[in-house]
Amino acid sequence: MKKRVFSGIRPTGRIHLGNYLGAVQNYVAMQDEYDCIYCVVDIHALTTLEDTHLLKDNVREQMIDLLAAGLDPDKCILFVQSHVPEVTELFTLLGMATPLSWLLRVPTFKEKAKQQPHNVNYGLVGYPVLMTADIVLYKAEAVPVGEDQLPHLELAREIVRRFNDQFGPTFPEPKGKLTSFPMVVGLDGRDKMSKSLNNHIELAATPEETMKKVMSAVTDPARRLRSDPGHPEVCNIYKLQKHFSPAIVDEIASECQSASRGCVDCKKQLGAAINEYLAPLRARRAEIAADQAYIDKVIKEGAEKARAIARVTMVEVKQKMGLL
Ligand code: TRP
Repeated sequence: MKKRVFSGIRPTGRIHLGNYLGAVQNYVAMQDEYDCIYCVVDIHALTTLEDTHLLKDNVREQMIDLLAAGLDPDKCILFVQSHVPEVTELFTLLGMATPLSWLLRVPTFKEKAKQQPHNVNYGLVGYPVLMTADIVLYKAEAVPVGEDQLPHLELAREIVRRFNDQFGPTFPEPKGKLTSFPMVVGLDGRDKMSKSLNNHIELAATPEETMKKVMSAVTDPARRLRSDPGHPEVCNIYKLQKHFSPAIVDEIASECQSASRGCVDCKKQLGAAINEYLAPLRARRAEIAADQAYIDKVIKEGAEKARAIARVTMVEVKQKMGLL
């Protein structure tokens, strides 16, 4: 039997290059080898969102991006978290096996509590328990995530161990699976690529928008004049070149070091390379977005398939816990 993989994606809007290189590309690659379940985690989004009027649209936009990026509903289960309400039931039950002290020490909780002191809600403390419920509802063994999620996974494993000790062996201990491109730096050359910092490029951006963003990107800060030699190893544009212009990457490095290639030309060429790389994905996206009935069908069938598995787990959990 194929190993089961689960991952959750927060519906923060459209997918950008950072999400794609850091995670989504890996999800697509795993579809053939593993039994993959991917979930757009709209309930998790509620722990930090106060204005939710865009949430539903964001979930849909993200679904379209995931399909355009190559997730195939015939190969994996792709669904929306709140459409499988069993996860909230399991979240409540796992809460009984989770000491509060464990949750209060989670670094992301402390960070979020600082970021939103006016909204330190109960759901925020429970975030890792809900994430554990996501994973173990399907008894997944491997969880592809970025580095920032490893503390959450460690906690998931502790909750599973405690549950299994108290109620008998039920869940496998999930293991994190880091991507080969774990952190994509944004166009500011400083922070992680993210929508909130506006240092990102959306997959669905137009070629013109993409070029404009790339042209605004920060390069080697030590290179002030066109005639100054560059340092590709510290340049974020060069990192992106490695991915988008692999055939000429050595040439780019030596031309940069000898100052025969300027940053403006380099960025123009990178913008064109990104646009060429994303062209088929963008064409697919336009086709999918034009077929609303198809999107509805994917979302509905994904939830049905996930729910069929979830129901079986819940019967077992309730029996183990003495409810049935
Ligand atoms: N916390 C994850 C993030 O912010 C999203 C997530 C929710 C998740 N549930 C999950 C990831 C289960 C992996 C498995 O990116």
